[in-house]
Amino acid sequence: MNRFTTVEGVPVSELLKLVARASELRDVLEDGDEVDPVLTGATVANLFFEPSTRTRLSFDLAERRLGAYVLTYDEMTSSAAKGESLRDTALTVSSIGADVLVVRHKEVGMPDRVADWTGRFVVNAGDGTGQHPTQTLLDVVTIQRHFGHLDGLHMALIGDIAHSRVANGLMHALPELGVKLSLVGPSGWMPADTSLSTFDTLDEVITDVDIAYLLRVQTERGGVITEEFVADFRLDDRRASRMAPHAVVMHPGPINRGVEISEGVADGARSLILEQVANGVPSRMAVLELTRGPGQ
Ligand code: CP
Repeated sequence: MNRFTTVEGVPVSELLKLVARASELRDVLEDGDEVDPVLTGATVANLFFEPSTRTRLSFDLAERRLGAYVLTYDEMTSSAAKGESLRDTALTVSSIGADVLVVRHKEVGMPDRVADWTGRFVVNAGDGTGQHPTQTLLDVVTIQRHFGHLDGLHMALIGDIAHSRVANGLMHALPELGVKLSLVGPSGWMPADTSLSTFDTLDEVITDVDIAYLLRVQTERGGVITEEFVADFRLDDRRASRMAPHAVVMHPGPINRGVEISEGVADGARSLILEQVANGVPSRMAVLELTRGPGQ
């Protein structure tokens, strides 16, 4: 294997091993204990062709925690601005000495193409409306750590599902892990073909869920914020007050405050949003450890 570009095709047993390892690493980091620097001597390049805060910075920190040399690519000040193709950029970075490439790009499938071109280990940091597998992992880690289990939980995935790579990963992984998933949003933002339960109002499902997972409206991919969307699907204080006492709120970030989620709910006691962010570093460390596995 020279890539981690999707959770599809990853056996449940392997996914659960990653979840356990990420959770273990979270404890190690929290306790201030030493991490085995398994990437000592390795070079990791972060090639981000779309904006990012959480993913880019947490990969950077995860790589440094594991002892790697880190190359950070900035599209605006690189030769891409002079017309260099992505293939040439990827080949250049691997020739400079990068052993691992972390790729975010607006085109679905670009991380796989980079892996094919370079032969280097590639981690997908988000490809258009495709996949965001380390987000899926950190979300599962967050749920597992909060509830202590996955099986039997009920999550509502709410909002702009059609344009969301985060949704794609969760729709694949969570049912396999025993989580009941309900899709909530305008009919135009539902997957064309799904065996999951769908709801066209948030009010009819909010009382039943253990987890309300809000998605950002992806305006850069064609999502349009309307008054109707905000009225029908925003998780505001009134709707959150109808949730079960133990139920939690998640969001991958960045948040559109006041659109899919209110200020009060985003910052409220139910919110696991910053916990998701905190699980990003150990989750990415767990994935980067794969690059040192047998056959790499
Ligand atoms: N969740 C997520 O991918 O956030 P960033 O775009 O800030 O990396």
